[in-house]
Amino acid sequence: MNIHDLLVQARTCRRFTGDYLSPEFLASLVDCARVSPSARNDQVLRFAIVSDPAACERMNSLVVLGGALTPEQRAKFHQHPRGFIVILGPEKTSDFIMMDTGIAAQSIHLAAAEAGVDSCMIGALNKKEVAALLNVPEGLTVYLGIALGRADEKRRLAEPRPDGSLVYYRDGDDVHCVPKRKLEDILIIRR
Ligand SMILES: Cc1cc2nc3c(=O)[nH]c(=O)nc-3n(C[C@H](O)[C@H](O)[C@H](O)COP(=O)(O)O)c2cc1C
Repeated sequence: MNIHDLLVQARTCRRFTGDYLSPEFLASLVDCARVSPSARNDQVLRFAIVSDPAACERMNSLVVLGGALTPEQRAKFHQHPRGFIVILGPEKTSDFIMMDTGIAAQSIHLAAAEAGVDSCMIGALNKKEVAALLNVPEGLTVYLGIALGRADEKRRLAEPRPDGSLVYYRDGDDVHCVPKRKLEDILIIRR
């Protein structure tokens, strides 16, 4: 599959099914982040993997998946994530750490998608509680969570809504729809 097709397919997923992901698989995703670009090649990020079912359930209670969905549209208990990766780093020193975090997250997201595993980056997480749960070493802080598992929902790209809204939604068939702007609306300068 070419990279554009993979990016179209790799929609954020919030309802999961199947086995819990193995620590080896989660570590292989972190290895994809490891070889990704890093500002000044400082490689300040660190990673935690969560594969133990009870720890995953605890993690799930500390994150918000699908804040724009109704409670009925969110994951039921049996659809909770089957693994987590948490991106850690030193207290923010410059904007570069946020960029490194995004790049690492996207590498993980795409590597997972290529392996048939879907994911959801999570900024809405209780960082203090997550740090306590994972016993994060002094001097490191939580930047981003990533929930993973095999999808138990259909997702597709959509046009922006008639009122211009870009908020994701479920259609009448319970398919998760993700409006994206058109290329001509974002590519504003061609010289
Ligand atoms: C930095 C970042 C943080 C995000 N945080 C959350 C989150 O806390 N909860 C959630 O359900 N989705 C979160 N998302 C997923 C976005 O909602 C999702 O990317 C967006 O709806 C577009 O859908 P798509 O990824 O399928 O293109 C986050 C995405 C990014 C890039």
